[in-house]
Amino acid sequence: MGMADLGTPDVRRERLVRISDDIRGCRACVLREGTRQAVPGEGNPDAEILLIGEAPGQNEDLQGRPFVGASGQFLTEMLRQNGLRREDVFIANVVKHRPPNNRDPLPDEIEACASFLSHQIEAIDPLVIITLGRFSLAKFFPGEKISHIHGQPRKIGGRTVIPLYHPAAALHQGALRKVLEADFAKVPGIVDIARRAAGRTALPAGPAKADEPVQQAFGLLEIVADKAAGEGLESSTTVPAAPAPKPPRQLPLL
Ligand code: URA
Repeated sequence: MGMADLGTPDVRRERLVRISDDIRGCRACVLREGTRQAVPGEGNPDAEILLIGEAPGQNEDLQGRPFVGASGQFLTEMLRQNGLRREDVFIANVVKHRPPNNRDPLPDEIEACASFLSHQIEAIDPLVIITLGRFSLAKFFPGEKISHIHGQPRKIGGRTVIPLYHPAAALHQGALRKVLEADFAKVPGIVDIARRAAGRTALPAGPAKADEPVQQAFGLLEIVADKAAGEGLESSTTVPAAPAPKPPRQLPLL
């Protein structure tokens, strides 16, 4: 395979299928025991947006698909409300097998799954990563608190990463729901900025929504980019650096 082939949708798809097969065959931790199946993740191999949750729950374990229960419905609805279709993004989890009784994944389980997630990120090469909840937050923003940084995009490893609350937390704690919905409403503007920064084709008619959120997002990105440069955050990330920008994709969004 030549280097020129690495970024085509077919190659991305093949790489993702191989990663999913590896996940299904994985026995590196105890989680596989007692589950029905692995939940590798799903979506558009060519996605500009990758959403990363925590771990499969009961419904996901039954169906082998991520975010198909109540929090999944809420997530799908928030995507829709913001002009995004579930089939255009890619959805994965930090941990690929359901922890017993939905307990938190343990550090060695997260570690055992870490390379699968990193390989998925490399294969999809998304412009924007959205972390959902504290376990995916920890991969990109170690030591930071979701309550301090939610909704604030940051450039990490050449990508824009947006830390969001987990939809399940928002469903269980009413006060968080509005916070998550407000943060999610910034996503289209942030994606648009990331596209422009990457030299990809902007949306035909400029900003898709009202100028204000886009301007706010611009301000945020500039602030976090300056901060990251000042603090050397680019080099402290655990995420592999993004390769050179790809040519504009067929934009699936908005
Ligand atoms: N919660 C998650 O974090 N992931 C899923 O796939 C479902 C619920």
